[in-house]
Amino acid sequence: MKLPTACGPVSRQVGRALRTPDPVDLQTRTPVLPEEPVLTDRDAQLALWMIYELSYRGFDDVHDRLEWHPAVVGMRLTLERRFEHELRKATRDRARQMPDHPDIGDQLLDLVRGEDGPRLSSYLRRDATAEELREYLRERSVQQLKESDPQSFLLPRLAGAAKTALAELQYDEYGGGRPERLHQLLYARALEAIGLDPRYGAYVDKVSAVSLAAANVMSLFALNRRLLPAGLGHFAVLEASSSLPSRRIASGIERLGLPADVATYFHEHVEADAVHEQVAAREVCGAYVAAHPEARRAVLFGAVCALHLEALSGTQLLDRWQHRATAEVAS
Ligand SMILES: [Fe+2]
Ligand SMILES: [Fe+2]
Repeated sequence: MKLPTACGPVSRQVGRALRTPDPVDLQTRTPVLPEEPVLTDRDAQLALWMIYELSYRGFDDVHDRLEWHPAVVGMRLTLERRFEHELRKATRDRARQMPDHPDIGDQLLDLVRGEDGPRLSSYLRRDATAEELREYLRERSVQQLKESDPQSFLLPRLAGAAKTALAELQYDEYGGGRPERLHQLLYARALEAIGLDPRYGAYVDKVSAVSLAAANVMSLFALNRRLLPAGLGHFAVLEASSSLPSRRIASGIERLGLPADVATYFHEHVEADAVHEQVAAREVCGAYVAAHPEARRAVLFGAVCALHLEALSGTQLLDRWQHRATAEVAS
């Protein structure tokens, strides 16, 4: 994969730094961030995504040694500090209102059940056009083509029952011993079957800031050990918000008569995530909080971040489609 095209001053500055042929020569200033929130700023999110990607698969045109170059780490910290601050601000009220529940597993599952966020999956099931479904798959591709990879960084930071439970989950996500069942690959096949480019990172230049932020938040929690509990809470919410929506999306794909491979990824998640949500909430987060009761609020912070970004991305897509439909009627 090549470094994506910059889309503003921050990603331009980061891109320029990453293209430095010899890391010894790299010196760079701290990026100047926009006044507006970086959470919804494509330029800032793309810049952060580019830096994070150095810890995953890297870029053909970027020197691998830049991953830990102090100048690159400095740019990453500047972006992360603001991103985390905005996430905390956006979720503060909700997090404060949450009572001290005796069972973190129940609390996480209740949190997802109480969410009125299935609007997007209901729309995809009943009303979406094939083009809207394609757009949905494209927006999610940045996140799903590396599904579960961020959470693998959490494993070495855990011990005991939480580690065993997360490893069990990851085994499933990585295909349960069968490379052809790797969830990332099932998603790539869905993209291909609907006529999209299945290559990793193919749509980084096209997706919204919120889609990039949804991928970046996982790396923020995964690559900073101090944010481990947030990474666990975030993961539990992802797993718990998947089974029912996957069923709805699969039925939308079938309503539209799209190829079977488009729906396979979603069928796989109907049953798998009905189990995974229990394991992630009760066994991973449950065991972790039992061993680290002081981390309960941090787990909930991650959980609320996942809900917040999920709601932002759902609302954004539905609004976009609604405006398009209104404009078509008016023209
Ligand atoms: Fe999965
Ligand atoms: Fe899962």
